[in-house]
Amino acid sequence: MSMSVASEPISPDNRTTMGLGAVLPLTAEVRGSHLFIGGVDMVELARAQGTALYVMDERHVRMQLGTYRTEMNAHGAVADVAYAGKAFTSVAMCRLVADEGCSLDVSSGGELAIARAARFPMERIIVHGNDKTPLELTEAIEAGVGLIVADSNEELDRIDAIATERGVRQQVLLRVTPGVHADTHSFIQTGQEDSKFGFSAHSGAALEAAIYALALPGVDLAGFHMHIGSQIFSLDPFVRAVEVMVDFMAQVRERTGFVARDFDCGGGLGIAYRPTGEPSTIAQYAELLVGTITRCCAVRDLSVPRIHVEPGRSVVADAGVTLYTVGSVKRLPGIRTYVAVDGGMTDNIRPALYGAVYEATVANRAGEPRGTVVSIAGKHCESGDILIRDASLQPVTDGDIICIFSTGAYCQTMSSNYNKQVRPGVVFVSDGTVRQVVRRETYDDLLSCEVY
Ligand SMILES: Cc1ncc(COP(=O)(O)O)c(C=O)c1O
Repeated sequence: MSMSVASEPISPDNRTTMGLGAVLPLTAEVRGSHLFIGGVDMVELARAQGTALYVMDERHVRMQLGTYRTEMNAHGAVADVAYAGKAFTSVAMCRLVADEGCSLDVSSGGELAIARAARFPMERIIVHGNDKTPLELTEAIEAGVGLIVADSNEELDRIDAIATERGVRQQVLLRVTPGVHADTHSFIQTGQEDSKFGFSAHSGAALEAAIYALALPGVDLAGFHMHIGSQIFSLDPFVRAVEVMVDFMAQVRERTGFVARDFDCGGGLGIAYRPTGEPSTIAQYAELLVGTITRCCAVRDLSVPRIHVEPGRSVVADAGVTLYTVGSVKRLPGIRTYVAVDGGMTDNIRPALYGAVYEATVANRAGEPRGTVVSIAGKHCESGDILIRDASLQPVTDGDIICIFSTGAYCQTMSSNYNKQVRPGVVFVSDGTVRQVVRRETYDDLLSCEVY
């Protein structure tokens, strides 16, 4: 299958690596001609560990989690920060999250298994998913998770049955769709009426579900949850969604007398994938979110519930980069130049999935301005396997190390073995040291599920 590749000539932005600003991990610096992150030379690291390789700036991740905790608790409410493991998870990451005093949002039995292997405190786990299997619910309840977010009446029934059988009452939040459109890609909008997630507030389904849940002996209804989408820049949709949710909570109190103890606002804060992108800061988000909840609760004479947020992307995306080695440079005169690397849509599906954009630098020429325009192509059997179309980059040749920025979220966790590609490993870098936290897969890993 071929795709038209001809396009207008695009001029390079001539930015230096450090000119990429908000796109860079906290500790990024250029020493001589090489890119360093966490005090580690990315060129030496790539050559020593092999590529493709995910690299995570540990200080950056810790700073984001710490900032969330500080800011969310700076406005007079009690707030819990539950890192959304779907953005990036591993045993080491779970331990780091626990160490930073945060909770953890898991959205499958597999994510829960990773958290358990990390000995993550189960009472700080929030379980998600729009169709949790009976097995996943059983595992979660038996493990003693803090909260399960129920997405359907069938799920409420299952939680009730499993908990009752074990003589426990499971704390549950109901996922409510506030009917608000977030200004983001339609694939990652989740708060609108037409959604596979949750119960609609407007239609009355959420109120019915609350009445239903309150009557179930195995269910201890703790409150409500919303998540309106991901990569959201404008904070207005959060405000509108909170207003709907607090109205809804007042309605529930009127009908049933139940006052929510917990209100989970989900994740969604956007990040800069481009130096020109200007997402809201964690401080702005926290102030507006907590302020709006407090104001709306005061108007309706409701006590302010414990507030949870579930940030994923804004914790890890800009902390992570992916290193690749250039295999070939193909110049198509008058059309474009393809720079092929030893990874692609298997380690980062986002460009192919929803046209996500990224920035890159040649890690071994990081001091030079990005004076050419090329397209960075993956190695997989799809013409759409392009990691960056029209990337500004330094002059590049085979053997160079390319670093693509902002790949810390929804890349490793969305990776695949298409073309039987082995998945890259993950390293954490900090203070000049490298810590391997996920090893690169081997052909033996690929063969381990085969039945001969
Ligand atoms: C329920 C829930 N919470 C939190 C998140 C994390 O969102 P983000 O990574 O945009 O912060 C998601 C992501 O889709 C989600 O579905």
